[in-house]
Amino acid sequence: MAENLEVQLAAVKEKCLSCKKCSLCKSRTNIVFSGGIPNHKLMLIGEAPGYYEDQKGEPFVGKAGQLLDKIFASVGLSREKDVYICNTIKCRPPENRDPLPEEKEACKEYLEAQIEILKPRIILLCGRVAVNSILGTTQGITRIRGRWFEGPNFSKMMPIFHPSYLLRNDSREKGSPKWLMWQDIQEIKKAYDMLD
Ligand code: URA
Repeated sequence: MAENLEVQLAAVKEKCLSCKKCSLCKSRTNIVFSGGIPNHKLMLIGEAPGYYEDQKGEPFVGKAGQLLDKIFASVGLSREKDVYICNTIKCRPPENRDPLPEEKEACKEYLEAQIEILKPRIILLCGRVAVNSILGTTQGITRIRGRWFEGPNFSKMMPIFHPSYLLRNDSREKGSPKWLMWQDIQEIKKAYDMLD
């Protein structure tokens, strides 16, 4: 990753750290700007920080994050070497409620800057909130997961189930959410391997 891009990301993060554009600035412990590794290939966009993320200032560090790491590991990917992770909004909503439209709007510039600086070739939209925010659709995730959509800068975007949803659905039977996630991660790895 070019040093210049790291510098650009650091500048956006710096701005974010003092952000007071919405009321979540009053209740946050930490801004959760990004995790994983900045790279041009693979970005995952989640929903919003939860309790543990807010405490640590890092995305996906709770139970859902552990499952996400396992999903990536099942195809040999990891946040240490392959995936840049961020969220639709950077501050935790109280009681983990869905982000409000005005919160998403206020935070949009940071996510857009992350995408514009890294220009990832594959973007994973993790869960309903990310899908609705980025694709602007209200279609259910179950209907559109696993499909490729055109993204910014000629990227490919795929909606995937949120790991929290998978934690609530234990079955691994054919057609179950976990089984579908397994199909999707294999498809994602195939596309990842084809990138130069
Ligand atoms: N869920 C998300 O969508 N993002 C996080 O960072 C943690 C949990």
